[in-house]
Amino acid sequence: MPVIPLTLPQYSYDIVIEAGSLSQVGAALRQRGLGTKSPKVLVVSHPRIFRHYGAQVMTALRSVSFEPYELLLPPGERYKTATTLHKIYDRAQSCYLERSSCMLALGGGVIGDMTGFAAATWLRGINFVQVPTSLLAMVDAAIGGKTGINHAQGKNLIGAFHQPRLVWIDPQVLQTLPPREFRAAMAEVIKYGVIWDAQLFALLERLPHLDQRRYFSTPVLTEILTRCAQAKAEIVMQDERESGLRALLNFGHTIGHGIEIASHYKINHGEAVAIGMVFASLIAVKMQFWSADCHQRLVNLISKAKLPCTLPDSISRAEILTALRSDKKVEGGKLRFVLPTTIGAATITDTISVDLVEEILAIGYTSN
Ligand code: GLY
Repeated sequence: MPVIPLTLPQYSYDIVIEAGSLSQVGAALRQRGLGTKSPKVLVVSHPRIFRHYGAQVMTALRSVSFEPYELLLPPGERYKTATTLHKIYDRAQSCYLERSSCMLALGGGVIGDMTGFAAATWLRGINFVQVPTSLLAMVDAAIGGKTGINHAQGKNLIGAFHQPRLVWIDPQVLQTLPPREFRAAMAEVIKYGVIWDAQLFALLERLPHLDQRRYFSTPVLTEILTRCAQAKAEIVMQDERESGLRALLNFGHTIGHGIEIASHYKINHGEAVAIGMVFASLIAVKMQFWSADCHQRLVNLISKAKLPCTLPDSISRAEILTALRSDKKVEGGKLRFVLPTTIGAATITDTISVDLVEEILAIGYTSN
């Protein structure tokens, strides 16, 4: 059973990855000392996930004498709001959660971010556990303690760093993940291969298909999840609060975020990151940070995951640039960018001009 410790000066927790382990989550909490003072656990989820996995998790908790409560929230980024957050507070109040009680997020990134933020703020901070059920949450959102909600003016503008006590990953739950979500999250997996883990990149290159869950054997999927979690943990351990290194995780996100906005979110996060990585890679070639050969290998992987490499004509380049210009990463006409230097390493630079980005966006890109 791969167990990755994430150790920070004041916190330490495990990321555990094991197929078929959902029914052991209660025992895992007990082993880590949760529930000794208060047996209450508020399980926050959404209806589809809870229908599939709720009973198993509730039984796992009851079997080791926890007292679980449930709260189901509507799925989707547009519900990551203060209104929904208050539903968690209301439920915490109605079941009299105490300081030593626990919240458990059973769902994707939205559920994890909101539950984490509720746990960070309820009674000035209580324990929480991440049980991610989407590939995106397993490789990224559930690890590292970023929690928060959206504000009308932007994503994740309200938030806190609050580390979970445990991240419990059962890859088997990905069987019920919608195919588009699986594919989109593969962009983040590829990202780790580029910025951190050349062996992960090579593994992805060896696999004949990357676009559907059914193409991955359980051991291979477990290895991929373990490598991504290891990469994220190593980065967070060196830079919990994103004062430097952690920004590497934004590879593909600068332009990607602009694409999400310009497409009015019709292009989802992972798809936008895939296109954003291609453009960032082109900039890296142009600036001689890395080679055209590395660029082609990246494009090949993105194509194999059946993710887009190009911007559809319907997306306005001008709107992307407007989003980039208003982004907090611009200073003096220069943008902060993560650029790859070789397969498995990247750097953060603030030497990229908005004009160069405009030039690259105008060229567009065709992989064939
Ligand atoms: N999702 C990026 C980070 O955790 O820093």
